[in-house]
Formats: sequence, C-alpha cells, structure tokens
Amino acid sequence: MQIKIALILSIILFEWSNADKLLFIQAIWRHGSRTPVNCNWNCEYFLQNDLLNGELTPTGMRQHFSLGQWMKKRYIKDYKLLNETYNASEIVVYSTDVNRTIMSAMSNLQGMYSNNGPNIPNVSDNYLIPPNPGAKSPTDIGQSAIHYNLQILPIHMKEAITDEGLLSILICPKGYEMFSQNMESNLTMNVIQKAQNTLTQFCNEMNIDPLEFNIFTLTEYMDTFYSCIYNDYPMPSTLTQTTFKQADSLYALTIALQLYQTWQQISIFSSPFFESLLSYFDSALNQSQIQNQYKYIIYSAHDINVQLIASALNFTSAECMAQVYLGQEVNNKNCIYTYPGFASNIIWELWQDDISHDHYIKILYNGTEMNLCNTDSKQCSYQLFKQLILNQKYDFQKECQDIDPIIQQKVPIWMTTLIIIFLVIFLALLFYICYLFRQLKQKNIKTLNEDQRNLNQYYDS
Ligand SMILES: *[C@@H]1O[C@H](CO)[C@@H](O)[C@H](O)[C@H]1NC(C)=O
Ligand SMILES: *[C@@H]1O[C@H](CO)[C@@H](O)[C@H](O)[C@H]1NC(C)=O
Ligand SMILES: *[C@@H]1O[C@H](CO)[C@@H](O)[C@H](O)[C@H]1NC(C)=O
Ligand SMILES: *[C@@H]1O[C@H](CO)[C@@H](O)[C@H](O)[C@H]1NC(C)=O
Ligand SMILES: *[C@@H]1O[C@H](CO)[C@@H](O)[C@H](O)[C@H]1NC(C)=O
Ligand SMILES: *[C@@H]1O[C@H](CO)[C@@H](O)[C@H](O)[C@H]1NC(C)=O
Ligand SMILES: *[C@@H]1O[C@H](CO)[C@@H](O)[C@H](O)[C@H]1NC(C)=O
Ligand SMILES: *[C@@H]1O[C@H](CO)[C@@H](O)[C@H](O)[C@H]1NC(C)=O
Repeated sequence: MQIKIALILSIILFEWSNADKLLFIQAIWRHGSRTPVNCNWNCEYFLQNDLLNGELTPTGMRQHFSLGQWMKKRYIKDYKLLNETYNASEIVVYSTDVNRTIMSAMSNLQGMYSNNGPNIPNVSDNYLIPPNPGAKSPTDIGQSAIHYNLQILPIHMKEAITDEGLLSILICPKGYEMFSQNMESNLTMNVIQKAQNTLTQFCNEMNIDPLEFNIFTLTEYMDTFYSCIYNDYPMPSTLTQTTFKQADSLYALTIALQLYQTWQQISIFSSPFFESLLSYFDSALNQSQIQNQYKYIIYSAHDINVQLIASALNFTSAECMAQVYLGQEVNNKNCIYTYPGFASNIIWELWQDDISHDHYIKILYNGTEMNLCNTDSKQCSYQLFKQLILNQKYDFQKECQDIDPIIQQKVPIWMTTLIIIFLVIFLALLFYICYLFRQLKQKNIKTLNEDQRNLNQYYDS
C-alpha cells in the first residue's frame, strides 16, 4: 500500500516537475523492408518475379505506417507539439531520391495523419472537377477531399549527386580510397580471422565456393535473407539457425568496418548532415525569425545514414562493434552493436526547461533515450551539443574536392586530342606564314633590284 502511494506520488511529482516544453524535433530513419538488391541466393527466382529492385514491400509500408502512429502518439497526442491536422508550416520532409525512401516517408506520414485529411468547402460541383470532358466529382466520398480523408504531404528530394546531406559518402571521391584502406586495417583483419569458421561453415551449408567469399559478400547474402524473412520469400533450407546467427553478428559490423572505421571518416561524412540539423535548430531558437515556425524535420534515408549518424553521436563505433564480436572488453558503454535494420530511426528533441528557460536536447534511438555528450545523462544542453558537433566538423567540400579518378583519366585523352589539333593548326599556320614571308622577301628583292636598276638607269643617264 505504502509502496503504491509512493509510486503514485512520484509519478505525479514527475509529471508535475516535468513541465518542460518540447519545441522542435528532427528525425532520420531507414526505409522499411524492401525486396533484395544483390544477385546471390535464389537470384533467378527474384529476377523472374521482378523482385530484385530494392522496392519498398507491403511489410515495409506497414513498418513505417506504425512508426508514424508512434510519432503521432508521442508528438501529437502526448506532447502536443504538432497539430492533429496537417499544417504545411509545421513539417518539412526530405528523402533521398530513391523509391523506397520516398514511399517510406509517405507511409510514415499516413500513420501520423491518416483519416484526418481535409474536407471540401460548400462550393458548387463545378469547382470540384477538372476541365476535361466527361470528368465527374465522385459521389461516394462525401465531403472528404480525397477518399477516406487521406492527407497528402509534400516530400523534397535532391538528385543523388547533389545530395550532400544524405548521400555524402557517394559523392566524395576520396571516400573510395578510405574504404579500400578500411578493408586492409588491423581491425578488419582481426575480424576476418575470427570469422573464418563462420565463413567456411556458411559456404558448406550454402554450397558456395569459399575462395571468392569474404565477410563483405556474406553481408550481401544476409541482406537478401533479411528481405526473405520480412517478406515471406523462401529461405535456403540448408542453412542452419546456428550458422545464420553467427553470420548475423558479422553482418551487423560490416558497414561500420567498410565505411566508418575511423573518427575522421565519421566526421567528414556526417558534417553536411549536421550542418542542416544545426541550422534548423538554430532557426527554431531564433526569436527574430517569426516566420519560421517549423516543428518537425524529417530525413528519410538508408542504413548507411543511421549507422553514420549513430557513430557521430558516439552511440556506436566500428571499434566497439568489433570488440563485441571478438569477445573483448567494450570501451564504449553505449555501444549499439546490432544492424540498423528496417525502419530504425534517430529522433532529436529540442526542449526548453520550465524554470531556467535553457534549451536542451534529447536523442532517441529506436524510441529509446540515449546517453549524450560524453556523459551518463539523457539530456545535453543545446549549446554543448552544438559545440561538440562543431568541434568534429570538417569542411566537406574541401575534403572531397579531389578530382574524380574517372574524370582524371578522361581529361588527358580529351586534352591531348585538343592539343594535337591545336599544334597541327599552329604548325600549318607557321608554315604558311613562312611561305608568305619568303614570297614577300623575293618580291621585295625583286622590287629592290628593279629600283636599283631604275636608279642605276637614272644615274646612268
Ligand atoms: C490545429 O489546426 C486547426 C485547423 O487548421 C486549427 O483550427 C487549430 O487552431 C489548430 N490547433 C492548434 C493547437 O494549433
Ligand atoms: C522507381 O520505380 C520505378 C517503377 O517501379 C522504376 O522504374 C525505377 O527504376 C525506380 N527508380 C529508382 C531510382 O529506383
Ligand atoms: C451549402 O450551400 C447551399 C447553397 O448556398 C445551402 O443550401 C446548403 O445548406 C449549404 N450546406 C451546408 C452543409 O452548409
Ligand atoms: C597492425 O598490426 C601489426 C602487426 O600486428 C602492427 O605491427 C601494426 O603496428 C598494427 N598497426 C596499427 C595501425 O595498429
Ligand atoms: C536570426 O534571424 C535573423 C533574421 O533572419 C538573422 O538576421 C540573425 O542573424 C539570426 N540570429 C541568429 C543568432 O542566428
Ligand atoms: C499552422 O502552423 C503555424 C505555425 O505553428 C501557425 O502559426 C498557424 O496558425 C497554423 N495554421 C493553422 C491553420 O492552424
Ligand atoms: C533498431 O531497430 C532496428 C530495426 O528493427 C533493429 O534492427 C536494431 O537492432 C534496433 N537497434 C536497437 C539498438 O534497438
Ligand atoms: C564523441 O566522442 C569523441 C571522443 O571521445 C569526443 O571527442 C566527441 O566530443 C564525442 N561527440 C559527441 C557528439 O558526443
């Protein structure tokens, strides 16, 4: 009884003391489950059924629809940050220019605003139809603007090669050098050594040639298997659960090993994203920018994004994941060592303290609050958070301005051709000029001679 009262009291006290105000949120997530992208296990089957294209599947749509409903409960119902009907001044949605991330964002937003779309005003039917002959206004949807009161929302995308914020690693030529260095590092070698038994076992069970097989090709198989598991496609009957589990613990760490092994790599590739993140936070806090009332910024992206940002926030690292894999003592207490699976997500919340009016940040990974800013606290003052992010910032443009090796190869061929053409023209011109000169000289000599002759004639006379 006493415990119960104490519990109720503490809950009330907690509610009462926690009158801080949520001002603004930003979220980055991975798309939901998709069809496979690698031609390995059962490739023929996937090709024949047009399933080898990485499109969002119904399972993936449902995952994001449910995440949208989770967001709705927390940010519309509980914290009342957003209006329950869509307001274009509150939300900005970015997605990479890929079908599955765009469709994930759409599914997610339906989860937030489903059945809460707008109604048409009381205007004449004439105004509700397009100008095309035979077009009619539907009679079975009532006042609802669109069937079932759906709410549609705008999604912004950039072409892949200009999308620094979300695809920095694809547009940085220097990145490819870093990735090949990562493949040869001691950390990778240690993992590969430990992985030998798993690789052999996997190849045996799957009947694969072990000579052309490594932890990165294993990752591609695991990627296909996850598509199978989530979408009820057939799985290899010969693969045992034990081997799958061992392969799975390798799978989790391969992106980090391959792409984000050093702090420098993490910092360079995350800089453009954080620039956007901080600038939205700053303008949300800027009192004089009254016209900017955004409350929620969305970035719909990929596993490589979630892994990168989680690493830059010190929630995980290639090193700590490898330590987990190798059974060593783990340095980073926060270490997330699982794969950023479908619909995994990171959410930033910007709060204002009720009493001090100071601003602080909370960050949720998969909906769980994380320790922040090198401390054991789940809150970090915005100023400190911003400072830490700025400390680890790189000038992405400068770091990545190396000439693309492909262009480097093409430029000389193109230039040599041009130089040869110029040389030929130049030489031809030179010869022509020489020829003209000679002509002129002969003519001059002739005239001179003639003149002399004339003169002579004159003198002679
Ligand atoms: C929510 O939107 C509705 C309709 O646009 C508006 O009437 C209402 O005032 C808004 N509520 C808040 C809390 O902004
Ligand atoms: C998007 O989907 C369409 C239709 O399925 C497909 O033709 C196209 O290749 C996809 N685009 C991308 C970038 O994946
Ligand atoms: C719509 O407008 C018509 C004509 O002005 C009026 O007769 C009718 O009652 C209105 N309906 C509603 C739902 O307001
Ligand atoms: C990698 O391992 C080799 C041999 O164990 C060692 O000599 C070398 O110093 C290590 N390199 C780094 C960067 O740790
Ligand atoms: C706030 O916004 C105004 C107007 O856009 C701008 O001039 C000012 O520099 C901003 N202040 C800060 C601290 O960012
Ligand atoms: C939409 O949101 C903006 C910013 O919060 C607010 O000023 C405006 O009143 C809202 N519009 C409606 C119709 O609720
Ligand atoms: C986050 O969610 C994804 C997708 O379900 C999952 O794969 C991953 O293990 C989760 N990570 C954590 C730390 O909860
Ligand atoms: C991440 O860890 C590094 C090394 O300990 C530290 O310098 C940096 O400030 C941390 N960054 C964040 C955002 O916590």
